[in-house]
This record gives sequence, C-alpha cells and structure tokens, in this order.
Amino acid sequence: MTDKADLPEIVIDRMTESDLHQVIRIERASFPTPWTIELFHSELTNPLSRYWVARSENKVVGYIGILVVPADGQITTFAVNPDHRLQGIGTKLLEFALSVAVSWGLSAVTLEVRETNLEAQILYRSFGFEELGLREGYYAEINENAVVMGVANLQDPKVWSRFHKEELLGQQRELILSVETSCDETSLALMRGGVEVIASLVSSQIELHTEYGGVVPELAARRHLEQLNPLLDELMNDAKVSWSDIDAVAVTLGPGLVIALLVGAAAGKAIAFANGVPLIGLNHLEGHIAANYISHPHLEPPALAHLMSGGHTMLIHMKNKGDYEVIGQTVDDAVGEAFDKVGAMLNLGYPGGPAIDRLAANGDPTAYPLPRAMAHSKNYDFSLSGLKTAVRTLIEKEEKRGVIINVPDLCASFQAAVFDVQIAKALKAAKALGLKDILLSGGVAANTYLRAQYSIRAKEKGVKVYAPPLSLCTDNAVMMGVAAHWKYVEQDFINYEAAVDPNMKL
Ligand code: KG4
Ligand code: ZN
Repeated sequence: MTDKADLPEIVIDRMTESDLHQVIRIERASFPTPWTIELFHSELTNPLSRYWVARSENKVVGYIGILVVPADGQITTFAVNPDHRLQGIGTKLLEFALSVAVSWGLSAVTLEVRETNLEAQILYRSFGFEELGLREGYYAEINENAVVMGVANLQDPKVWSRFHKEELLGQQRELILSVETSCDETSLALMRGGVEVIASLVSSQIELHTEYGGVVPELAARRHLEQLNPLLDELMNDAKVSWSDIDAVAVTLGPGLVIALLVGAAAGKAIAFANGVPLIGLNHLEGHIAANYISHPHLEPPALAHLMSGGHTMLIHMKNKGDYEVIGQTVDDAVGEAFDKVGAMLNLGYPGGPAIDRLAANGDPTAYPLPRAMAHSKNYDFSLSGLKTAVRTLIEKEEKRGVIINVPDLCASFQAAVFDVQIAKALKAAKALGLKDILLSGGVAANTYLRAQYSIRAKEKGVKVYAPPLSLCTDNAVMMGVAAHWKYVEQDFINYEAAVDPNMKL
C-alpha cells in the first residue's frame, strides 16, 4: 500500500479540448468499448453535460462526467489511469461529482457499471448507491450486462453528508449571467449557484424620468440600449471571468414595458448564441420573490409571498420554487403606484415611495383619518384608488380653508392606511392557508414602516416575515439570477424565438 501523504496533489478541473488526447488514452486502457474522441468532443459542448479531469503534476490521471436529465444526474463516464489506481483518485472524483450534483439541486444520480466489475460496485455502494436493475446485454460487444445503480434523496443531508465535500467544490457551481431591463433600471449580474454574487451592476434611470413624473417607455428603452454594452464590459471586468466560464444566460421576458424588455432579451439572446450556452426566460415577479433567498437561502416553501411594486400588488401562495397561485391582488392601483401618485400630489418628485417613507418617519400616523378600503372584504383583493382620491380631496379641502398641510403627518397617515390593510389581509391569508412564512418583495418592501409593523403584527400570529436586503427590493438582476438558478436546476431553457410578454402572468 502506498502512503497517501507521499502522493502528489490531485487537482480537479473542468475537462477542456486540450485534455482529450490524454483522456482518450486512459479511456482506451480502461474500457473494452471505449468512447471515441468525437463523442468526447460533442459531450464537451453539450449544455446538459459537465466533465472534469483529475490532474496530478499537470497530467490527466482520471475523469468523470455527469449528464443532467431534468432534476436527475447520470454519470456518463468515469475512469482512472491504470498506473494511478488505488491512490484514492476515483473516490475523489466521485466525491467531487456528487458534491456538484448536490450543489446543483439534483435529487438523484444514476450510473451503469459492468456486472463483473465488482470493485467499482463496492466503491459505489460505499457512497450510498443501490442496485436499481439490470440491463441485459448492454455491453453487447463484450457480451456483458450492465447493473444500473443509483443514489436517491440527494438533497437529504443524511444522504449527502457521507460524501459532500464543500471544499472540493471551489468554483464549480454554475455561472449564470442575468440581464434585467423590464422598467427603468438596466441591471446585470453574474452569479454562481443562485447564491453567490460574483458581480452585479444596477444603472438607474430615475433622473431621466423625474421631470415627466413617471417612466417614459421610449426613453427607457433607448437608455437601456446605450447602457448595456458598457455595463457588460464593466461587469466582466469586475468579475474577472471570461465568456467561456458562463454556463447560461437569463433574460427577463415580462411583465414590464415591452420595448424595454426587448432590449435586454435581445442582448441576452445574442450573448447566449455567441457563447453556445442555454438561454433561460424569466418572470420579473418571480425574480422579486426570489430576492428573499439571497439573504435567507435556507428558506423552504411553502410560503405566502407578498409582492408590492410599482406595477403589482399581490398575495401569492408559493407552493414551491416555480409553483405559484395568486390568491389576491389589487383591483386598481398598485401600492407603489399609489405612493408615486400621492408623492406627486405633495410635489415630492418621482418616485414618491422613498420620499414618503423618509418624511413619514417624523409624522403622526393618526393625524389624518383616511379610509382603509376592502379591509374587511371576504377575498384577498385590495383597492387603493379610493385612498388616493381621499388624499387628493383632503389636500384640496385644506388648501381652500387656507390650512397648511403637515406633510410628514399626511405621509405617515397615508402609509398607515395602506399598510394596515396590506398586513391584515396577508396575515389572514397566511392563517387560512396554514403558512408560517411571509416573504415580502418588490420596491415597496424597502419601506421602513412596513418592515417594522409587519414583524410586530406577524409575531403576534406566530408568523415569520422575511424581506430581501434593501438594495434587492427594487429592480435588480441579482434577484433574477436566483430565479434563473431554479430554472437551471430544472434544465428549463427557452429557444431564441421566445417572445417578451409585457403582461406575463406568474
Ligand atoms: O419593484 P420596483 O423597483 O419596480 C417595479 O417593478 O415596479 O418598485 C418600484 C416602486 C415605486 O413605485 C417606488 O415608489 C416604490 O417601489 N418604493 C417605495 C419605497 N422604495 C421604493 N415605496 C414605499 N417606500 C419605499 N421606501
Ligand atoms: Zn420590479
């Protein structure tokens, strides 16, 4: 037996074209019916496959490959150079590949092994693989059967704890470039495994639209177009990765402003095409919800998602990642829209939300009595246009009477009227559905009063409230990157003909 401490270090790396002449030599020494070099070539460009080599002193001494078939993985090849066997290289490659499978969120991994290769079967069993069946005559050329072996419940810590080696993973989680241009922020992110932000940029156009009191679609689209290329250069520079490191490109397909969406989608499609990587199509609303999983990656659905943005106000039963049921929504204005309109009435500039939030901090929420629309309706819908009108009427009345409005008091009263109803209904829905977690999202989730009040009231009901970090409440590509990872794990890709949809539903 060789003492392992004396052996040269083994480094695991992505397999590249330049490794193939060494790989093929091991392949021929290992298998009676070896793969051809062409097969390896095509597997290296297959977006659903991933191959790694083990190197010792810069020489390839073994390799392993995985093919992802939605949510499951299949080990397609696995070999160690005959001169380097019994040195633990096979164990290391297998530990590595299975650790990657766990980090990708795969639920099972299977493989085929020659019926007479008992040594390999013992190794697989030590990793928790079990025999699933026999493929008779599978290796026809040598007249041998294949034993199909598999390890299931990969996401169960009891299963993966026996081989999972976080330190082996290094940079192996998939790298996704996300492009978000649905409204008035041009944003890009490069993320690994949906959790690690390698680089991200948000270029806000707020100053461009302020003088119009709202987003002007044509101006937004033109600005996206001007910004995208310089931002991409900056992003790639910040991240210090090359184009060939990117495993997939994700674009927001909707909902949003159609000509703004088109710019980002076209850019993302071009990048995916040029780099030969799969394309992921995203729903902007799912991205907002997904933002919660950056600061709370261990949250597990089901949950009640409460989305409040400039365009949407919704209560969503999140049954699983990717499985949503909208149980209530606004019948007229969105919460953010109401904030922006009231902000405009008070000459606070655009967007009104952050300004109202700031001013309200010094106001009395009970100063002005305002209506709480639909607070007691039987469904989970909201209405905000009546409240907006009540604020306008109040301002006009006071002006007529020559009374100066106390702006902080009005801001605080308006906020309280909006959020009293939002919070009460959400808690009622959580109770009815038996949900213990509420996930806030959308630009309005940045609101100070909302975050404080929500936690207090939810606690009384035994419900936990989560919110994304402030910077990820308003539009950004990082949140889209989290949702992109969920789709990547499912291998849920789109083709280049996929159209943007300004009214896309969850
Ligand atoms: O999610 P978002 O960035 O864009 C949409 O997808 O709509 O949300 C923007 C909205 C705006 O209406 C803005 O006024 C509101 O979020 N908002 C706020 C706050 N910060 C942003 N509303 C209340 N309080 C805030 N602190
Ligand atoms: Zn948004």
